[in-house]
Amino acid sequence: MTKAAQKVWANVDRYFGEKLAPSDPALDAALAANRKAKLPAIDVTPLQGKFLELLVRISSARRVLEIGTLGGYSTLWLVRALPQDGHIVSLELDPRHAEIARANLQNAGVSDRVDIRVGPATESLQALVTESVAPFDFIFIDADKAGYPDYLGWSLKLSCPGTLIVADNVVRDGKVIEPDNPDPNIQGVRRFTDLVAAEPRVSATALQTVGSKGYDGFSLAVVLR
Ligand code: SAH
Ligand code: DHB
Ligand code: MG
Repeated sequence: MTKAAQKVWANVDRYFGEKLAPSDPALDAALAANRKAKLPAIDVTPLQGKFLELLVRISSARRVLEIGTLGGYSTLWLVRALPQDGHIVSLELDPRHAEIARANLQNAGVSDRVDIRVGPATESLQALVTESVAPFDFIFIDADKAGYPDYLGWSLKLSCPGTLIVADNVVRDGKVIEPDNPDPNIQGVRRFTDLVAAEPRVSATALQTVGSKGYDGFSLAVVLR
């Protein structure tokens, strides 16, 4: 991708972002806190956050599962779409990330609706299944890409007919089409895609995206009714 193309993507992202996904004090404060704590700047973009918010609204979701919290920026977008009795469980490996996310959610006044669970996502997902929690209506997979195949299996266990499963970063600058790329992230996304494709319980698509964070994409799968 040329520098010129990237510049246009970023400018168009800013154009639509300012109009359609305006930032607010809570979102701004979360990004500032994340920067200050030197978290990697790999949160979704504002327009992508708004996209997630819309998907949650369209699916009338009340129970949301997020895998990969970071500083809770995507969590803040997801929580906006929920009714008062809605709830998010967000899974995060790094206790420092979780601590910052909790502070950001507290600051935004939504911490009563978000439960951040610290530990390897696989263990937290196993625990949710063991607890027989009610199925989730919307699942956002955004943790380590090598874990995506595993997270798909757990997501299906925690789903019901109609659940929407969204996975972030499935294009990775186009590297997803490189079968021999040794990067475990790429291999994880490829294996995830194969599993989705072969899964009779879901209908799925993938959407390439460009913008201020470059070239990437989302995978969307709905559990069939
Ligand atoms: N959803 C966030 C970005 C998540 S970045 C947003 O858009 O704002 C990915 C996060 O997944 C990081 O915080 C990382 O610590 C976490 N992660 C990595 N491996 C993990 C694992 N095995 N289990 C749970 N979380 C993990
Ligand atoms: C990475 C992870 C993300 O969730 C993301 O949105 C971008 C990059 C990463 O691990 O490189
Ligand atoms: Mg991501």
